[in-house]
Amino acid sequence: MTNLKDLNSEFWANLETIFSGFDGAIIIDTEGTIMLFTEFYAQQMGLSREDTLGKNVLDIFPSTRLMEVIESGKAIIAEPWEQLGKGHVVSRVPITVNGRIIGAAGYNVIAYDKMPQFLTRLSSLNTELSYYKETVKRLSGARYSLASIIGNSQPMLEAKEKARQVAGTSAPVLIYGETGTGKELFAHAIHQESARRDGPMVRINCAGIPESLMESEFFGYEEGAFTGARKGGKPGKFELANKGSIFLDEINDLPYAMQAKLLRVLQEREFDRVGGTRMVEADVRVISASNVDLRIPVAENLFRRDLFYRLNVFFIRLPSLRERPEDIPLLVDYFIERQNTENGTHIEGIDREAMNTIINYPWPGNVRELEICIERACLDAQTGILGLENLVRFGGRRVAEQGDHSRTVSGLKEARERAEKDAIVLALRHTNGNKQKAADLLGIHRTSLYYKLREYDMI
Ligand SMILES: Nc1ncnc2c1ncn2[C@@H]1O[C@H](COP(=O)(O)OP(=O)(O)OP(=O)(O)O)[C@@H](O)[C@H]1O
Ligand SMILES: [Mg+2]
Repeated sequence: MTNLKDLNSEFWANLETIFSGFDGAIIIDTEGTIMLFTEFYAQQMGLSREDTLGKNVLDIFPSTRLMEVIESGKAIIAEPWEQLGKGHVVSRVPITVNGRIIGAAGYNVIAYDKMPQFLTRLSSLNTELSYYKETVKRLSGARYSLASIIGNSQPMLEAKEKARQVAGTSAPVLIYGETGTGKELFAHAIHQESARRDGPMVRINCAGIPESLMESEFFGYEEGAFTGARKGGKPGKFELANKGSIFLDEINDLPYAMQAKLLRVLQEREFDRVGGTRMVEADVRVISASNVDLRIPVAENLFRRDLFYRLNVFFIRLPSLRERPEDIPLLVDYFIERQNTENGTHIEGIDREAMNTIINYPWPGNVRELEICIERACLDAQTGILGLENLVRFGGRRVAEQGDHSRTVSGLKEARERAEKDAIVLALRHTNGNKQKAADLLGIHRTSLYYKLREYDMI
């Protein structure tokens, strides 16, 4: 990877989720092109986000020092900065991958009267930065095993047992679960526990590829297949996954036309490259993941029933965190331990009040949201016992009452629905009804939000 532009849409979606909690933040690439600009920042500066994304930072903020950071590779931490008549305290850091600078991030804290909070916030911002660096590292090739998946609750033990059984076969598996429940983790684990573990594990994000490029992305192309086609052609993901597994992530977003092509490959176990004449054998194990119940798009004729049956030979449903609150203490310990090892913090645990708050919160973003929350808290506290005051997620407020009633009444399904509805209403209120932004806040894809709205009769 040489530039931020090369990072995939999932990376940007993760980044958006992380940065949406910040007061103001901007990310540029090495040319100075603005890649990320938070809504809050745009509002504060009286600018529109659309007007800034893709523009050169020097055109928008002539006095910016972000380009200096790119040139020198040195961070500028907590510097007072005057811009458009407003005083800020700004930090600017280079973004590096494998020692190469690929961009820079800037973020500000404008509340001068909140200097103590400002200082703690600054340290949590730095955590986030190392968090997404870590995410990039993890997404690009790290491997997981079933044993590394935390959780001893009944639904989790069942999911792991199912995964173990499935791993022993080469049949297609469909993993379903809300966002952040560990679908990708399970997909890797299944591959890792299977006889194909020494073969490749290739991921395709079905939501992240423009429809026009999809066929060549899946199946590759031959030299001269179209204008601009690379000399010698290019193998597709199916070819790269030969003798291994292919992970079709966000399969629910696969365009209808592509569904027919995928079905054909699964039936015939061979395919041809775009512009090609010879058939290539597809010896791959298909693992797909969806964060909507695929039966809904199937019933609505948005997803082919025949393809659904092909993918759904084995089905694993991952429980939401709300359905397994007994796993929360384990996960919290695990994330604290990881922070201590990786970031040199000395956190000894979490106090009872904070733990109760965490257990009673509905976690719409599931394990991912909990993971971010604990990582931030550890960096905020650095040593000792985590308390409510370190949980930026809760702003120090007590939310136990709200969590309680969503967990104790009549059944998990209803509790989950209520929690999801509440989260959706809040997100929509927060974004003035903008569904894309609400989906970003919730950490789900826009189409998933539409499904939820329809499922819960909210439109
Ligand atoms: N049981 C678990 N134990 C440890 N870490 C977990 C567990 N489940 C999820 N995580 C962590 O939570 C984060 C989200 O997991 P993952 O990416 O697998 O979720 P997902 O279901 O694919 O979410 P999305 O639908 O948003 O893509 C990852 O950082 C992952 O390592
Ligand atoms: Mg995923």
